[in-house]
Parts: sequence; C-alpha cells; structure tokens
Amino acid sequence: MPASPVPLSPLPTPLNVGLAGLGTVGAGVIRLLAANADLVAARAGRPIRVVAVSARDRQRTRGVDLSGFAWEDDATRLAARADVDLVVELVGGADGPALTLARATLGAGKPLVTANKAMLAHHGLELASLAEGTGTALRFEAAVAGGIPVIKGLREGAAANRLSRVYGILNGTCNYILSRMAAEGLEFADVLADAQAQGFAEADPGFDIDGVDAAHKLTLLSALAFGTPPDLARVQVEGIRHVRLADVRQAEALGYEIRLVGLSERVGDALAERVAPCLVPRAHPLASVTGPLNAVVAEGDFVGRLLFVGAGAGAGPTASAVVADLIAIARGESGPAFSTAAAALVPLPVASAAERVGRYYLRLRVADRPGVLADLTAILRDAGVSIESLNQPASGADGTALVVMVTHECAETAARAAVVRMAELSAVAEPPLIMPLLPTEG
Ligand SMILES: NC(=O)c1ccc[n+]([C@@H]2O[C@H](COP(=O)([O-])OP(=O)(O)OC[C@H]3O[C@@H](n4cnc5c(N)ncnc54)[C@H](OP(=O)(O)O)[C@@H]3O)[C@@H](O)[C@H]2O)c1
Repeated sequence: MPASPVPLSPLPTPLNVGLAGLGTVGAGVIRLLAANADLVAARAGRPIRVVAVSARDRQRTRGVDLSGFAWEDDATRLAARADVDLVVELVGGADGPALTLARATLGAGKPLVTANKAMLAHHGLELASLAEGTGTALRFEAAVAGGIPVIKGLREGAAANRLSRVYGILNGTCNYILSRMAAEGLEFADVLADAQAQGFAEADPGFDIDGVDAAHKLTLLSALAFGTPPDLARVQVEGIRHVRLADVRQAEALGYEIRLVGLSERVGDALAERVAPCLVPRAHPLASVTGPLNAVVAEGDFVGRLLFVGAGAGAGPTASAVVADLIAIARGESGPAFSTAAAALVPLPVASAAERVGRYYLRLRVADRPGVLADLTAILRDAGVSIESLNQPASGADGTALVVMVTHECAETAARAAVVRMAELSAVAEPPLIMPLLPTEG
C-alpha cells in the first residue's frame, strides 16, 4: 500500500507592513527585520515583512535595499493599500503627514506602530480612541526611552499596581551634555557645540535642551501610570540651558549629580508633572546613568521600585522597540494603548506648586560687597524658607561672587517667590538658578 502523503501544515500568513519614514529609525527597522528575520518569525509566530515604504526623497541612498518594496510618494496611501496589514509611522512631527497617516491607518481599522512622542503627546487621546473605536491596536514602545521596554513594563508588567510616581532621564542629548560637563570640566555651550559638530545633537537643539522632548515622553508615562490623558499643557518644563559648570561642581561637592529629570507623581488627589534639571543624590540609581543613556523609575504599591535603564535613542535600540511592537501585534496581543481604555482616561487635577514640597538648590551671582548675604538670607527668612547650607565658593575678578544655598524642605512656591525677590536686588548680577533636589528615597 503506498504511504499516505504527510499533510503539509499551512504556512503562517505573514504580517505585511507599510513603513513611512526611512531615516535613522526607518532604515534601522529594515536592517533589523532583514538581519533577524527567522528569529522574529519564530517569536511572532509568523513572518513579518515590509511590503511598501514611503519617504520624501526616492533617490536618496539609505544604506538599505529597498528594491523589494513598493514605493508610495504619499505616505497616507500606505494605509489604504490592500497588501498592507499594519503601518509603521517613523516620519515624526506632532501634526502634518505623521498625524494624517495615523488617522488614516487607525480609521481603516489597521494597527499603527509609531515612535512619535510629539504626535502622541498632542493627539494621543484622539488616536487611542480612534484605535479602540475601530477595534485595532496603537503601539508606541519606541516613543519613550528608545530601546528600553518601559511602555511594556508599565502597561503590562506593572499593570496590577497603584503607582505613586514615575520619573527618569528621558532625553539622551541632555544627559550626554551634563555628563560631559562633569567629566571634562566643560561649559554647557562648549559641549553643545561639540555635540552638534559630531551629530549627537540636532542643529536646532531646542526641543532637547529646553526639556520639550522629555515633556512629550513624560505625558505618555503619566497616561500609562495614572490613567490621565496625555496633556503637555499640564507639564511644568525647564531645560538645561542655564546650568553652569559651577553648578555641576557645587552639586558634586554636596554629593549630587545634575540630571534632567522628568517626574510625574501623585500629590494627594492631584498629579504633579515636571521636567527640570535636578540634583540627584550620588547613591540614587539615576546618578550613575551617564552619557546618552536613559532610565526610568516607577514606584508601585505591590512591586516596589522598578528601574529600567538602556539606550534611549539610535537606529538599533529604537528599531528593537518598533519591532517588539510588531511582534506583539503579530502574536495577537491586544489591550488599550495607554493601559486604561481611552474613554476611562480621566484628567487628574494639576497639583499646585504650593502642594509641592522639597529641598532646593539656589545659585546666585552677586556683587562681592558686605551686606549682600544678609539681604539674601533675610528674603528667605521672610518667605519662611530655612537654609540647610550656604557656600560662597569663589569671587570673580569682575567684582562678583557666587553664592550657593540649599534649602531645608519647603513649599516650592515659597522658594520660587524668594528667588523672584532676590532677582530684584541690585546686587544680584544675573538671573538666579533654582533646581530641586531629588530625595534619596525618591
Ligand atoms: N532617531 C532616534 O534615535 C529616535 C529615537 C526615538 C524615537 N524617534 C522618533 O522616531 C521618528 C523618526 O525619527 P528619525 O530619527 O528616524 O527621523 P529622520 O531620520 O529625520 O527620518 C524621518 C524620515 O521621514 C521621512 N519623511 C519626512 N516627511 C515625510 C513625508 N511627508 N512623507 C513620507 N516620509 C516623510 C524622511 O524622508 P527623507 O529621508 O526622504 O527626507 C525621513 O526618511 C520621530 O518621531 C522621532 O521622534 C527617533
């Protein structure tokens, strides 16, 4: 009797991807999918393949082979293609073509994977609602902290916890600048110019150094951690432009490192969201995060403190996060984009500065003459702020002196009001700098 033929198991259906944006991250995704195709297919349960792409300039050399992909001049058309199951948006920008494509994709009921924190910070609630309305997925692992799986960590790993705060180093450019200032004794402007020359910092670095990029990411962490819709207007944002080498050295002498920290925390029934340069105690894990690395800390009522550290940007790490989202979708993993269903995201009251209590670092450059210190300390006394330490490290040849103070715990409003009054003194030679101290336990 002839042997009956062995039935062939049907080949799994590939997940067909339309990819918009072939820059740093887009080209990285193509490279990763080519290099790890078998491994990705094994883990996803089906092959994941790019079928169509879009960018601005079709002639540009990108170091990746695009010959097997259909080309669309208009990225929005990727969403309508019958051979595209899912769209990856790596164009960037809060509005414009990225948003048009995101709306078209989710509106068509197709999953969207994006690394675009600016778009999600501005339109995250609308896009999450749209995805839920059409029963599809919106995923953005690469939008916060590059390669670090912090979105998955909060959305899934820590989903059972009531979180009290989530904070971290969310911008690699700022961390790189602050780390080099400390390591090489350089001023902010010199490191920035060098970073731009080497391509580490954008020609227009404002989004990074003024804290806006970190604020975009913080809104997404807040949504995941606290069930509040992403809302940039709620975030108090300060960047690192005004941090001097002298501040870095004074912080070191006090046992701290300066880091740009994005912090979102419950204050009673309210939520405080802030991006600011902070003094981080040397014993805190964020103090040892140097160079372009990112790190996120989340504190949950059952899990305790979680720490995520890794590369916050770059083609490889960011592509790793994008493809992780593709694998999750290929596996059929679902659930709301921001962990809580879009309709159930509720804006929490914004914590007032009066409710925010902490210790603060104050730096002033003042005329080097008798009585000035007494005037400064009188202002703090009148504001109800007591001084933990006061240092006058050096007198300049220009007749001014640096004064550095650390306050005891006080209301932020009191410390800031005192700084405003100090700035009005004729003896104060330049705008003072105020920076919060991150608590050791925080
Ligand atoms: N770079 C990182 O390390 C990193 C990390 C995390 C998240 N992200 C996010 O990832 C996204 C992409 O960043 P990137 O660094 O890869 O940017 P990029 O290098 O500037 O690349 C942007 C790409 O978008 C294309 N593009 C621009 N306008 C377009 C349009 N109207 N239609 C179709 N394509 C268009 C550009 O085309 P041409 O090449 O033809 O000009 C380019 O290929 C952004 O949202 C960014 O915030 C980046």
